[in-house]
Amino acid sequence: MKAEAPIGIFDSGVGGTSIWKEIHQLLPYEHTLYLADSQYAPYGNRPKEEIISLSKKNTEYLLEKGSKIIVVACNTATTNAISQLRSEYEVPFIGIEPAIKPAALKTKTKSIGILATKGTLSSELFHKTAESVTYGIKLTEVVGEGLVPLIEKGNLDTPELHALLQRYLKPMLEARIDHLVLGCSHYPYLVPLLRDMLPEDVKIIDSGEAVARQTQAVLRQHDLLNPKKEDPKLQFYTNAQENTLHLLLKDHAEKVQIEKKKF
Ligand code: DGL
Repeated sequence: MKAEAPIGIFDSGVGGTSIWKEIHQLLPYEHTLYLADSQYAPYGNRPKEEIISLSKKNTEYLLEKGSKIIVVACNTATTNAISQLRSEYEVPFIGIEPAIKPAALKTKTKSIGILATKGTLSSELFHKTAESVTYGIKLTEVVGEGLVPLIEKGNLDTPELHALLQRYLKPMLEARIDHLVLGCSHYPYLVPLLRDMLPEDVKIIDSGEAVARQTQAVLRQHDLLNPKKEDPKLQFYTNAQENTLHLLLKDHAEKVQIEKKKF
């Protein structure tokens, strides 16, 4: 039965596991199949056409494995490819976009910052959203060049990472931001470091919880929530090394299966 099929999730690499954690927390009985396309990470500097073709490759693999819904747990793939995916495949898609709207609604200093990939910040979808929600608000956009490759290697607290973040936060702090939007699903893994580097009154926000809620709502709407309340199968496939997935999923080690596959 389709409702018992897995939720398919993909990202350019390991970062989307931050989204998976939110989904699994909200929907603990759902089977999930996560693809880390780490062999091709980062997506962020690739041309739009290439991001679309990688996203199609991942989607087709997840569909072959019977996924009932696809979560694009990557801002870069969502902002560049989701409309194409929706037009080509019948399955419901959930995307992730930077949470600038909630930040724009809450800012008191009228200044917010966004850290994301070049692919996301240069996309048409991001521009449209940003324009429509930031009237009268200063938006400082910074490309997090070099962050994804370090996170892919499992480097979550190194001097190199520290130095990059210091450089990226500087213009934001000069602009007196009171909200920092993480526009890449890898970046929630930088929160402990960012928290140490930012003044206490700067809030850090990401889209993980909203994506999980949206996934639940769309599954419910299509009558696709798994009715069985049993331990689910939680599979993670990577086309590169498994080490970083083991590191990021260590709190779930007993429940998850991590495998290297070709896709
Ligand atoms: N996790 C991806 C995102 O949310 C990283 C992009 C990349 O691979 O550059 O954008």
